[in-house]
Amino acid sequence: MAHKSSATSFGTPKAFMMVLCFLFFIILVFVYNTSNKLMYIASFYSIIRRSSLQHILMGIQSRNASYEMTFNGTLPLPTTAFITQNKANTIALNTIEMQRPDECQSCFAHKFEYIIDNHVVCKLYSDSQEIDLIILIFTTHQRQQERNSIRQTWLKFTNRNTANVRYSFLLGEIPDAQLRKLVEEENKIHNDIIKEDFVDTYQNLTYKTIMAFKYAITKCSYAKFVMKTDDDMWINIPGLLKVIEREKKTLQTAVIGACHPVAGPIRDTFSKWYASFQSYPHDSYPGFCSGTGYVTSINVARKVFDISKNVPFFHLEDVYVAICIRKLGYRLHPIAGFNIGRPPFDPCIYKGDNLITSHEVSSGMLISFWNTPCRR
Ligand SMILES: *[C@@H]1O[C@H](CO)[C@@H](O)[C@H](O)[C@H]1NC(C)=O
Ligand SMILES: *[C@@H]1O[C@H](CO)[C@@H](O)[C@H](O)[C@H]1NC(C)=O
Ligand SMILES: *[C@@H]1O[C@H](CO)[C@@H](O)[C@H](O)[C@H]1NC(C)=O
Repeated sequence: MAHKSSATSFGTPKAFMMVLCFLFFIILVFVYNTSNKLMYIASFYSIIRRSSLQHILMGIQSRNASYEMTFNGTLPLPTTAFITQNKANTIALNTIEMQRPDECQSCFAHKFEYIIDNHVVCKLYSDSQEIDLIILIFTTHQRQQERNSIRQTWLKFTNRNTANVRYSFLLGEIPDAQLRKLVEEENKIHNDIIKEDFVDTYQNLTYKTIMAFKYAITKCSYAKFVMKTDDDMWINIPGLLKVIEREKKTLQTAVIGACHPVAGPIRDTFSKWYASFQSYPHDSYPGFCSGTGYVTSINVARKVFDISKNVPFFHLEDVYVAICIRKLGYRLHPIAGFNIGRPPFDPCIYKGDNLITSHEVSSGMLISFWNTPCRR
């Protein structure tokens, strides 16, 4: 009876309270889950901000592909089944010997060969000429328009690869013969493409990084500094050169950029940055400097390239580089102005000393940013 009377007198507020509690609980669970992932704080924020189909698809792709990674630096075992997180953890725990070890002896063979190998990128045009910086820009075959916009904007400072800053676009191989042909023709015009014979996918970016370092230290060994960036970036080259000049000593034993000293693997299979337990069995990464744009000296590049042979493959290239850097006893050094997002456009800021990189800048934006003068 008492039960009934309370139900009639407080029924509605009680139900309301229960719903509230339930919602609160859901929010708590969500916050707890996400706080585990806050290592990629800003990147994660950008996913929420633009939770696009493309990102979700990338998550699904990386979910499959991460499982193909072995600690041997080779990628066999084509994955056929859709693996859920729980199942993945079970498999991981049952196959401890399949986990990525922290190091190995010559297990990461850099066995890929150049398909397009440019000798003019770092050509010296006088005896006294010096190359301060080589910028290696990750791109894919179909993004010709993006490459053209970059050539027409911030790459102007390289004066078609004859100035003190040089650049090259980096590609892997794809099955589409027509696109391959287009890229060959593009290279005949611009002489600025480097391509190796690994399959060009997101999961294989670390191969591209190894190629980048290899290219820098072999074909551009007299360059003083090396930058890795992407084809959706605004790079403020005059600002960057000032930072490099200021940090030149640090750069002999560090990588600079948008560096996060604390980071850990995202176990959410839908994340673009998903890392399976097998591919990375530890709770934390040694940090990383965002792959959107990091810079180091040619000496550090050489050291990273050499040690990478003994550092098992890991698919997130910026984390991979951080693993090598920490192994070498070097540092990740955050620098203000390297943005992993896109700060609101203001020509005086984009062309001033305090903004070095900006991300997710479309080819149209690049042109319009470039053509907007600072009038203050
Ligand atoms: C990932 O797995 C799903 C389900 O099996 C499949 O449909 C999809 O094609 C796979 N994606 C890749 C990139 O292999
Ligand atoms: C690692 O790769 C080598 C060949 O590159 C192979 O002989 C060896 O069996 C592999 N090791 C494991 C544990 O897969
Ligand atoms: C990565 O590249 C290797 C070598 O070309 C290739 O065998 C493999 O399928 C690629 N992996 C992915 C996930 O694309």
